[in-house]
Amino acid sequence: MAFPASLQKGLKLPVISSPMFLVSGPDLVVEACNNGVIGTFPSLNQRTTEGYRDWLKEIKSRLNPDAAAFGVNHIVHNTNGRLMADLEVTIEEEVPLVITSLGAVADVVKAVQGYGGKVFHDIATVRHAQKAAEAGVDGLILVAGGAGGHAGIINPFALVNEVRSFFDGTIILAGAISTGRDVAAALMMGADFAYMGTRFINTTEAQADPAYQQMIIDSGATDIVHTPAVSGIPANFMTKSLIENGIDPRALPEHKLDMGEEAKAWKTVWSAGHGVAAIHDVVPVAQLIDRLADEFKSAGSEFDTKRR
Ligand SMILES: Cc1cc2nc3c(=O)[nH]c(=O)nc-3n(C[C@H](O)[C@H](O)[C@H](O)COP(=O)(O)O)c2cc1C
Repeated sequence: MAFPASLQKGLKLPVISSPMFLVSGPDLVVEACNNGVIGTFPSLNQRTTEGYRDWLKEIKSRLNPDAAAFGVNHIVHNTNGRLMADLEVTIEEEVPLVITSLGAVADVVKAVQGYGGKVFHDIATVRHAQKAAEAGVDGLILVAGGAGGHAGIINPFALVNEVRSFFDGTIILAGAISTGRDVAAALMMGADFAYMGTRFINTTEAQADPAYQQMIIDSGATDIVHTPAVSGIPANFMTKSLIENGIDPRALPEHKLDMGEEAKAWKTVWSAGHGVAAIHDVVPVAQLIDRLADEFKSAGSEFDTKRR
């Protein structure tokens, strides 16, 4: 079964509000879950492991009994010195969904599955998908071209078809999914879930500067540039934000610019995906999810967790 039973509870739409550095916090997660989609955040959005534990406790205390599951994102890489301590807290608190980025490690997968949690791993290439499948992950998040954050460059149709040919677990599609019609399309393509980042930046519960949200409204897909210059790994950023910071988007180097530590870079230059083209407002999460559900339905889709 590609749709994990433990993640069906309270789910109104097959949508995950994806983890976003600096942007996702308890308010966004709680509103997402209480309104029927899976809410997630990166553990590193809290400055310390103790702070991370406090957020988990706060989120749990604010969830309705019939809320959808929530999840956390861990960066599995030797640059993340907090990984083991944060993971210990995740295990103690039995977080239902763990999203791993960069490294797919069998021991981490086993530790989460050991308490009944699910592990989804994000990938942008087929080779990484194969490695993660070998590590035993429950789901693969296919980060296609045009996604916000550290995006891939592969066309979503191609990525879903190729990964599905060898992976029978849950498939979560990411990249420029902004409307309920887009969610329906992701399912038609063979995904089990749609993964939405940029659309959720423009909610009142996101931890985002109003000027960031306005820039998303004012941008189209051609205002997004895929570059390693800000973070060292290729990611999508708004050209208007680069220009505001004195960086010429037409003359970006192939290496990381000296912008200080990672948090400062992301705080200064704003990331968003091609999906900005379909975002015209900032609304409360509850309103956004109602709208997504209406659009999903009017696209002729019905949400049925047993369909595969
Ligand atoms: C501002 C921003 C920050 C992000 N930070 C993270 C992160 O910390 N961890 C992660 O796994 N993905 C991160 N992402 C990627 C998203 O989780 C997701 O893959 C992506 O936003 C989906 O594409 P979309 O924005 O086109 O919907 C970030 C994306 C954005 C826009």
